[in-house]
Amino acid sequence: MSEPNTPRVVPLVDQRRGPLPLPRAALEATGRMLPVGSLRDQLGRGLRDLRISVTDRCNFRCNYCMPKEVFDKDYAYLPHASLLSFEEITRLARLFVAHGVQKIRLTGGEPLLRKNIEQLIGQLAELRTPDGHALDLTLTTNGSLLARKAASLRAAGLQRITVSLDGLDDAVFRRMNDVDFPVSDVLEGIDAARQAGFGPSAGRGTGGLKINMVVKRGTNEHEILPMARHFRGTGIVLRFIEYMDVGATNGWRMDEVMPSAEVVNLIQSHLPLVQLEPSAPGETAERWGYADAQGQHDTNAGEIGVISSVTQAFCGDCNRARLSTEGKLYLCLFASNGYDLRALLRAGASDADLASALGHIWQGRTDRYSELRSALGPDTSDAGRRVEMSYIGG
Ligand code: GTP
Ligand code: 5AD
Ligand code: SF4
Ligand code: SF4
Repeated sequence: MSEPNTPRVVPLVDQRRGPLPLPRAALEATGRMLPVGSLRDQLGRGLRDLRISVTDRCNFRCNYCMPKEVFDKDYAYLPHASLLSFEEITRLARLFVAHGVQKIRLTGGEPLLRKNIEQLIGQLAELRTPDGHALDLTLTTNGSLLARKAASLRAAGLQRITVSLDGLDDAVFRRMNDVDFPVSDVLEGIDAARQAGFGPSAGRGTGGLKINMVVKRGTNEHEILPMARHFRGTGIVLRFIEYMDVGATNGWRMDEVMPSAEVVNLIQSHLPLVQLEPSAPGETAERWGYADAQGQHDTNAGEIGVISSVTQAFCGDCNRARLSTEGKLYLCLFASNGYDLRALLRAGASDADLASALGHIWQGRTDRYSELRSALGPDTSDAGRRVEMSYIGG
């Protein structure tokens, strides 16, 4: 079953564009390593978070991400030879870490569909920051394969997991994933993850297990309270995400966005909340804790988060870079083009060349799409060109 059909322009062209030319300075600086660990972009933002998409495939067809009409049986996914190999990914990741990256998130598509993903996790888990720390290594999954894989992911060295779950009601969940996948299997996956050690005390910060719920007005807003009640007191952090105009295929409309302020008000009126301090600079989510009778944060009840990239852009300290499945570096979730690092890798670039290129690319960065959208409205001039989230990684 699919959502009530809204008229939609289905692009007939491949949205994946040719690469951006590498900055001249990057090519001229061949062999000269930039100072590591202190990169700043044009807006003074550091580089801390690398999201790596390991496959452009997914077994779900969430309407807001990979609508069935576009991602059908004829859709041309990337051939295997186009994908970065685990060795290539690890080599690039090591250089990103030398440049200041502390957190790596594996995404997709659905990352658990990539064969032997545990092997990649093992390789990334061995990387160390310049001051000798292990990475904050995490993964975003739809949870469909988690019951089977949670233990092996943990054993491979994964520290945290984020599961996407848009509702508890089976009919709503099946409609949103649009492949009739039952919610009970994802809930089993979440249990398996807890049992494997991705519980409240695992990983950095507030817990090793988070749930992301994209809220679409008219589709799943009635699932907000049941979801809050379900995860309250479990140590699992539930985050509500504003439906974004990412990509070119989801037929985004502002009237389907439920502002985070409304989500907080709704929960607040049943389960009192207090606002919490950010746990890390440049964080996507605003944190709210469940309050006790004295109005203080009840740590046993836990916390929720809201991610408001539509109504309250957080580009000001955005420290996130994205590496696509085929090795292009994107500087913004809403970018239309990326820098072709795979071409450099496969042309035999040295580590020094690659590090230099990364440094110059980041130093030239000016992206702040969500802020501009808030100021000017959605940039429809470019909407048909924007890369898909399933390709670039959430
Ligand atoms: P934690 O380290 O666990 O806090 O994760 P995170 O919030 O950094 O990453 P996650 O992938 O869980 O982000 C949740 C959602 O926020 C994504 O699925 C996106 O919808 C949105 N999001 C993440 N990063 C960005 C970003 O850089 N820009 C925008 N506009 N949205 C983002
Ligand atoms: N709006 C907001 N978040 C999205 N995601 C994918 N598409 C969108 C969108 N249009 C995010 C969700 C999901 C993750 C895989 O990507 O958080 O959980
Ligand atoms: Fe797949 Fe996640 Fe996109 Fe849904 S949101 S189609 S589960 S990648
Ligand atoms: Fe970062 Fe672009 Fe998202 Fe702004 S819109 S927070 S610059 S990824």
